[in-house]
Amino acid sequence: MNSFKPGLEGVVAFQTEIAEPDREGGALRYRGVDIEELVGEVPYEKVWGLLVDENLEPGMPDPEAYEPVSLTGNAPADLQAETARLSAVWGLKKLVDIARLSAQMMSIVAKSAAVHDGRQPAPDDVVAQGQTAAEKFLLRWRGEADPKQVQAIDTYWICTAEHGLNASTFTARITASTGADCGAAMSAAVGALSGPLHGGAPARVLPMLNEVASTGDPESYVRDLLSRHGRIMGFGHRVYRAEDPRSRVLKRTAKELGSPRIEVAEALEEAALAALRELKPDYVIATNVEFYSAVVLDVAEVPPDLTPAMFACARVAGWAAHILEEMRTGRLIRPSAQYIGPTSRSLSAV
Ligand code: ACO
Repeated sequence: MNSFKPGLEGVVAFQTEIAEPDREGGALRYRGVDIEELVGEVPYEKVWGLLVDENLEPGMPDPEAYEPVSLTGNAPADLQAETARLSAVWGLKKLVDIARLSAQMMSIVAKSAAVHDGRQPAPDDVVAQGQTAAEKFLLRWRGEADPKQVQAIDTYWICTAEHGLNASTFTARITASTGADCGAAMSAAVGALSGPLHGGAPARVLPMLNEVASTGDPESYVRDLLSRHGRIMGFGHRVYRAEDPRSRVLKRTAKELGSPRIEVAEALEEAALAALRELKPDYVIATNVEFYSAVVLDVAEVPPDLTPAMFACARVAGWAAHILEEMRTGRLIRPSAQYIGPTSRSLSAV
């Protein structure tokens, strides 16, 4: 029997043609195409097409008219519940309908975000004025779409659309391998994403930036945090042993968009990298995707508690691609556990 690996670290569970990050972090490619080439060239909905269909065209469709039953304003919970519900409402079949479901999931998050802000989601005729999925998302959420905010969200979505076999994608594939419909697989993935170890770490970066901005002393901030054995948010990665390639793109975008936080972010990044090099000279701890995601999402005025839902919107593409790949090539996923409980005993011993 194979040896047990806590967290399945390093265990190869699937072969995939979609994407998988490499340790050196040289690049992140979606079906072979570097994300550096995609950002600013094609909008997110076409990247969805590349990932899911291996073709930019036609890409993810517009969401069709649909009214979620009752939104709470907690976007991940609303998304999970409504996606599962769509399986029944639309009578989803195994392989079909993943495109309309993907589009509807983005729309549900935008509507839930409006409820979160105490607003009514904008009506269809307002949303129809938008050109891209990001613009339509902002129109649905806020009734207006500033071009810089559209670019911020589009770039963030493209950079985080897919990242190989993370926890939520694994969950989606396990569910799909049972023959469940795509609504069940997608809603299971949303559930896995909602935990603090997977989605939404950008929320923890902004308070750090605020503190450094108020003291103007990133070196002391980093030194104090590390002396208390704290972790600097937005640094380190389970896979990458170099700078996360998504971080490079997001940093460039934050600069292009004139983020007022870029100066303090760069100062903190420099201080953090120097201190981490000193702390762990033999273990590379570099900037990960979350650090500049926080800065870019801040340009779009996404409140920290909505960042997990923004991540879910982006990852709809990766989940859809993996669900289809699993359905085409997969076999029921049923690993084994090593039993370490009590040996045989009688009921009276319990
Ligand atoms: N700040 C300070 N020390 C760190 C950091 C950090 N950001 N990251 C790793 N270390 C240290 C650990 O304390 C540990 O030291 P020790 O051996 O003395 O205990 C050592 O480096 C190895 O840490 P691990 O957690 O085993 O390393 P791993 O590479 O698996 O960690 C992780 C990855 C969990 C992301 C970690 O770097 C971390 O906690 N980072 C901060 C949180 C964060 O940015 N999360 C978002 C991750 S990106 C994503 O999820 C999409």
